[in-house]
Amino acid sequence: MSEQREPVGVIGVGWVGLVTAACFAELGHPVIARDILPEKVEALSRGEVAIHEPGLEDLLRRNAERLTFTTDMGELLAQARLLFVCVDTPPTYSGDADLSRVRAVVQELSGDGDHVLVMKSTVPAGTGESIRREMPNLAYVSCPEFLKEGTAVKDFMNPDRVVIGADPGDEGAADAVAALYQSLGGEILRTDVASAEMIKLASNAFLATKISFINEIANVCEEVGADVGQVAKGMGLDERIGTAFLRAGIGYGGSCFPKDVSALKMLAGNTGYHFQLLTSVIEVNELQQRRVVGKLEKHLGSLIGKRVALLGLAFKPDTDDMREASSLVLAARLQGEGAEVVAYDPVAAERASELLGSVEMAPSAMEALEGADAAVLVTEWPEFAELDWAAAAGRMARPVLVDGRNFLDPDKLVKAGFDYEGIGRQPRDAPAPAAAE
Ligand code: UDX
Repeated sequence: MSEQREPVGVIGVGWVGLVTAACFAELGHPVIARDILPEKVEALSRGEVAIHEPGLEDLLRRNAERLTFTTDMGELLAQARLLFVCVDTPPTYSGDADLSRVRAVVQELSGDGDHVLVMKSTVPAGTGESIRREMPNLAYVSCPEFLKEGTAVKDFMNPDRVVIGADPGDEGAADAVAALYQSLGGEILRTDVASAEMIKLASNAFLATKISFINEIANVCEEVGADVGQVAKGMGLDERIGTAFLRAGIGYGGSCFPKDVSALKMLAGNTGYHFQLLTSVIEVNELQQRRVVGKLEKHLGSLIGKRVALLGLAFKPDTDDMREASSLVLAARLQGEGAEVVAYDPVAAERASELLGSVEMAPSAMEALEGADAAVLVTEWPEFAELDWAAAAGRMARPVLVDGRNFLDPDKLVKAGFDYEGIGRQPRDAPAPAAAE
């Protein structure tokens, strides 16, 4: 019963690495996790978690005796055969993925044939093949992560699928990785390394495409007086389409979609293939973040000197992640138009203020709205649904609200005294759009 489980090594204890480490420990494996930042390792060893991810802190606390954090690669190599590489691969100036951290890790591995490099980081297709060419004795398995921030622990424990890519000669290593996931119940797809790498990029690019598609439909809905929520529902009932990822809004953000869509576009471009669709997906997303300005101008005229309150700054609720958040583009654009920007976010404010130095941070939604000429709901934090909107209307200089996530009930907002602007939808008693010529 107390049979020793396969030890797991985790390299890079960022968000993916930490969730991976905590979840494997929860499954009963001794986990040794290595990061190059001593302060991060010390904090984690003391049980301090710097990121906001529901359930993660509990998991780390509950499994503390199975988890070791270290800066020492030697310690990791001595204790674990399976090494999950979870370092980040941010975009470079060219839009390609920056593989310098992955390369640095590979340099530290001896390639002695005793270890298996399991690539969790998102890398361009072809990366596994080039690492294997450099280190022919190192077993290599691609096992991309599909975790969503805010539900990462749940996603890890209940995967839709686990993709395991290995090339000839590494089947045994792939078996060992598959065994780790066996108890979780999701379908385990065994394939080659290049296909596994492409599955990750293609999945994120497809999801981003769905979002840009519904955002363009929303923009057309505004012109013809249709409701994008109804349209998405009706489309989604076709099981070939499905309802997921058809929520119109002010664009996608986060650490994955913008980076991975661009990386896939660049990967294709580097091979000589122009990925036209992804070029448009990216452009639609950029324009969608900016459309809010026009919606505000419709009600306020020039934004010079107008005070605009942003409700929510994180790229989505249940995270304090500000990477590529739509709020960053929006705040800069509003300031570019001469507006004064005040913001409130229940969790991301501290991180956000490092990036948005000239934006005033308010301690509550109501205080952000005080005296504002308009508000933009940027992140659908549940507390915004609970806000006393009638009181808010009374405290604003002008009760104008752009609901950037179609999160609030338009009719309720109109009743509370607001001029309401959604994305691809109007309040029921809003004036009909001008008839086409
Ligand atoms: C994503 C992928 O879902 C995950 O599989 C991958 O491993 C990492 O990237 P994440 O970045 O956590 O996960 O965010 P996700 O929940 O997918 O949302 C991404 C962005 O799309 C958010 O800004 C969200 O607001 C936006 N979005 C999502 C929409 O605008 N509309 C939708 O219908 C869904």
